[in-house]
Amino acid sequence: MKDIDSQPSWFMFHYYREQSKIIENFNGFGYESYSVMQKRPIQIGIYYLVEFARQEEQRESRSSTVGSQRCSRIQMEGKVALVTGGAQGIGKAIVRGLMEKGASVALIDIAVEKGEEYKNVLDKEFGSDKSLFIKCDVTKKDQLKDAFQKTVERFGKLHIVINNAGINNEKNWEKTINVNLTGMIRGTHLGLKYMRTQNGGEGGLILNMSSLAGIMPVAHQPVYTASKFGIIGFTRAIAAASDVGQYGVRINTICPGFVNTDLLQTIDKEENMGEYFQYRDNIKAMMDQYGIHEPTSVVQGVIDLIENENLNGAVMKITVSAGIHYEEYGPQYQPKM
Ligand SMILES: NC(=O)c1ccc[n+]([C@@H]2O[C@H](COP(=O)([O-])OP(=O)(O)OC[C@H]3O[C@@H](n4cnc5c(N)ncnc54)[C@H](O)[C@@H]3O)[C@@H](O)[C@H]2O)c1
Repeated sequence: MKDIDSQPSWFMFHYYREQSKIIENFNGFGYESYSVMQKRPIQIGIYYLVEFARQEEQRESRSSTVGSQRCSRIQMEGKVALVTGGAQGIGKAIVRGLMEKGASVALIDIAVEKGEEYKNVLDKEFGSDKSLFIKCDVTKKDQLKDAFQKTVERFGKLHIVINNAGINNEKNWEKTINVNLTGMIRGTHLGLKYMRTQNGGEGGLILNMSSLAGIMPVAHQPVYTASKFGIIGFTRAIAAASDVGQYGVRINTICPGFVNTDLLQTIDKEENMGEYFQYRDNIKAMMDQYGIHEPTSVVQGVIDLIENENLNGAVMKITVSAGIHYEEYGPQYQPKM
């Protein structure tokens, strides 16, 4: 083992982080037991140090086998993307962001009028062969299957899937689970079907739209919270499966704070909020406290997650106060490509 000071910066960062966690944990036992055990943290710290170095060495040697590919950023020009819930709000902004980067995009939505209207706008700007609108309810298994098939028939391949369609409805909570979680799980399975290298796909990226409500419980939206926690758990697990099974597909999730879209207006509707409607002033106070993004601020995060080939199983957070940053998990839980 080299001298501590000569270790690279990533090593020092993790070393000190692990050390401080250990001290924090021991502080949890109270001062007395900490003072009895004060030599133990140092021994455990050294164990962590050695173990962490071993894991990082393995990871480094693994990454060097894929060489520059692991550190590069993929080009979006010529790629084919499918975006659910692409007719308005965040999905609409994502569609434009991808097309500006040179991708062809299938926008999938239940809202026919809005979808067709947007497709006309995109045709004028990017050319009619660059996008496709498909009417589809993501809760309908066959419709979603057809939408993927039509996209591949039209563009010949598929590289990017953004499972973005989502609703807020605590009253009809089963629908919330069906759209936000079941629809997203199906969309991920279909994306893998077309993009997995074992299936003849070219590999690619799946991005599942969660929310800060997937990280911290929101009192006014217990079922929405459950759906968004579910998205993170599912995404991290299937990202690990992609790593183990060498699918060639990276799968990440993104968690924006409040975004200025129609979904935010549902907070003010009893038919969406049910018994939680009475707490609407409380959630509005949270909006004042945390601030509200425009949909375009989510687009930059989406582009980063698509382009950065290091990221698989990542949980990106976007807040007004801290911008784009990531939820931290122990390195042992982080799937890698
Ligand atoms: N607005 C926010 O504050 C916020 C914050 C974090 C995460 N999100 C998430 O971002 C995603 C997009 O939400 P938004 O804010 O743009 O909302 P939005 O209501 O503006 O857009 C949602 C889109 O999904 C479509 N959709 C709804 N149900 C569908 C279904 N069954 N099949 C196909 N399409 C369907 C709608 O027609 C609409 O075009 C959602 O998953 C939402 O949970 C939103």
